[in-house]
Amino acid sequence: MEIGIFSTEAEASKAAAEIIIEHFAANPGATLGVATGSSPLGIYEVLRAAHAEGRFSLADSKAFALDEYVGIAPDHPEGYRNVLRAQLVGDDKTGLTEEGLHTPNGQNPEPVAAAAEYDASIREAGGIDLQILGIGSDGHIAFNEPGGSLVSRTHHEALAEQTVRDNARFFEGNLDLVPKSALTQGLGTIMEARRVVLTAFGENKKDAIKQLVEGPISAHWPGTILQMHPDATILVDEAAAADLELTDLYRARWEMKH
Ligand code: F6R
Repeated sequence: MEIGIFSTEAEASKAAAEIIIEHFAANPGATLGVATGSSPLGIYEVLRAAHAEGRFSLADSKAFALDEYVGIAPDHPEGYRNVLRAQLVGDDKTGLTEEGLHTPNGQNPEPVAAAAEYDASIREAGGIDLQILGIGSDGHIAFNEPGGSLVSRTHHEALAEQTVRDNARFFEGNLDLVPKSALTQGLGTIMEARRVVLTAFGENKKDAIKQLVEGPISAHWPGTILQMHPDATILVDEAAAADLELTDLYRARWEMKH
């Protein structure tokens, strides 16, 4: 894994966005894996600005979401399809089309079938070229919560209590309003993305980042599977990096390459 440590969230998001912009300049029409939550918002802001400047476009690309809440009303603004629409879809944003945006069908009364369909649709598209990721304070990536399979495919997952508490901020702070399960790409699905770029910010993420980067690979901290990914970049602010031990080494490696 390549680790970048930045003074601010904005700087880390800019670095992540520039990796994506460069990748798409070299591979127009590549397939992008998109995350929701607060971590990628700074990236999306830079991508929209780059689109306005004419140096980035998802017009000919497909984008696949990591996950979607099960049973959330289709018009709920916190439904992940709607969040991603608001961030990315349209010529005034990144050029991504409505048809180009793929999200798991959280409305399907048969979530197991919906999960299998979604996994198949990623394969049919030729896989994900570059996957944007965040990480939960409990170490989940997408909604792969602790204690699950490290090789799972897209599946129906129960959200951990910690995740429900963390996500209540998107639902008026009310735990009862937070959906309790989601369809999520599995860890095996995510590991097939050809490149991954993960961002994490703030003190609340420092345990997850410590484990992700320096802990043993373990289902207890699902993100640790990324240590086995051949092309993973982890971009964090100082607060999220606070417990890392080998920071001098990470900084030296980063400077050598960039
Ligand atoms: C979102 C997702 C989650 C988030 C994680 C961190 O699509 O899959 O894994 O990346 O919960 O959320 P934030 O960024 O809001 O701290």
